[in-house]
Amino acid sequence: MADPFYLTTAINYPNGKPHIGHAYEAIAADVIARFQRLQGREVRFQTGTDEHGLKMARKAEEQGRTPRKLADEMSGYFRSMDEALGISYDRFIRTVEPDHHRASQAIWEAMERAGDLYLDRYDGWYSVRDEAYYDESELVAGEGDTKLSPQGTPVEWTVEESWFFRLSRYQDRLVELLNTPGFCEPERSRNEMLAFVSGGLKDLSVSRTSFDWGVKVPGSEGHVMYVWVDALTNYITGLGYPDDTEEWRKFWPANLHLVGKDIVRFHTVYWPAFLMSAGLEVPQKVFAHGFILNRGQKESKSLGNVTDPVELADRFGVANLRYFLMREVAFGQDGSYSAEAIITRCNAELANSFGNLVQRTLSMIAKNMSGELGELIPDAPDTALLDLVRSSCATDLPREFGVLAFSQGIEAWMQAVWACNRYVDEQAPWTLRKTDGERMKTVLQTLFVAIRDLAIAIQPVIPDKAGAVLDMLGVDADRRTYAHLAEEGWYSDLLASGFRVEPPAPQFPRLEMPQAEDA
Ligand code: MSP
Repeated sequence: MADPFYLTTAINYPNGKPHIGHAYEAIAADVIARFQRLQGREVRFQTGTDEHGLKMARKAEEQGRTPRKLADEMSGYFRSMDEALGISYDRFIRTVEPDHHRASQAIWEAMERAGDLYLDRYDGWYSVRDEAYYDESELVAGEGDTKLSPQGTPVEWTVEESWFFRLSRYQDRLVELLNTPGFCEPERSRNEMLAFVSGGLKDLSVSRTSFDWGVKVPGSEGHVMYVWVDALTNYITGLGYPDDTEEWRKFWPANLHLVGKDIVRFHTVYWPAFLMSAGLEVPQKVFAHGFILNRGQKESKSLGNVTDPVELADRFGVANLRYFLMREVAFGQDGSYSAEAIITRCNAELANSFGNLVQRTLSMIAKNMSGELGELIPDAPDTALLDLVRSSCATDLPREFGVLAFSQGIEAWMQAVWACNRYVDEQAPWTLRKTDGERMKTVLQTLFVAIRDLAIAIQPVIPDKAGAVLDMLGVDADRRTYAHLAEEGWYSDLLASGFRVEPPAPQFPRLEMPQAEDA
């Protein structure tokens, strides 16, 4: 049976519409999900919205509506964003769903049974924007006399009766976990968390009494769970917890929680501690990606630079947006985007390099060979090209994608695309047409085979466009995985089927530079 792979994104706060950071995480997770499927894994991919808590309650109050109304509307935008970006999730979870309340109460009861919950009073700082408690020692000075969280968000002094979770008990086990190779990546995040845990862990306040927009604490009138307790639980709700379901047995512990670098503490400290307390296994890996900035600046309403990712996809095309985000930024680091950067990158690599290669090759086959392919008997330069393309597509790109190094993986793929273009220039099939028709056929057929490898390999990043190219090549829909790259016989089967190359429809049109004012 195929090896299971369970992958999640953070679930987004639907207190407003999605922004580029949300799109970035969804796209990266989707690339991973598609990559693993094409590696033959049985993938489960979950994403969704995190709808409880004070942040949602306050935003709804500002707008004079109920938190549920706000959540219903905004969650819908996240779902539409996923649709527009081609996100192939298996479940889009909303934390207001009944099965999620049930799972959250079940993990609460398990932690209670373990003796890890006790009632006390919380006296301390809270950031509503981060939905996080901070110790005085973590705060930084803001303007005037104000104090800010380490994320630069406002904090308020909070006093209320609260349930506490005995986080301090888990210190040693958490240090051990953080020292487990591969559990927390990249290194920067791991070091930050090791420093945080080694500095000493205080027990964590895990319920609120000053508002009621949350999951009710079982058996404790007036308490709702701290929003992160329920939010993190989404990862197991989606597998049927607390029931012993087939999904649960197959997919837990998760292979990967993909999150942004600002929420690593919740995923590598609080979440594993909750799971250990409840007697459940911890996830195998938490990977923290960087932040995407708009021309080097964080997007914010006050700066007026908030971009709707669906509009970006409409303007540049989904494939271009996905390609740019995965190619431009080394995964794990922060990166910047602008219209010019997207256009420059996509024109150079997709339109002028890969697109042009596909267009030129298929047009020549359609025109000069009436679309008819023949047996391929490669000569030395043809074999050299095919070997190079094969090793980029079957070895280098998968190796890099396997460790989430998307930009390096795409670089290896581009090297193969450029090699194909150099080969076209060197072999000059348009000249061969007049001098050596047989050699022209060999050259074009070599390119046809190379393009099939290239299109298969790049599917996780640009699934629709790669799929359209494979359709034009006549490659069977069920013969497009990485394992199929090495498959003998696809080409002879194609010939035997009587397939003919049609004049190709351009897949990667050049993008136009915007006018100065809307750049
Ligand atoms: N609701 C919590 C997560 C709960 S997970 C159990 C939350 N939501 S969020 O909407 O603020 O952020 C969702 C994800 O988007 C997080 O992983 C966050 O790091 C990521 N990003 C938010 N802004 C971002 C950028 N500008 N760039 C890249 N990712 C960023 O946190």
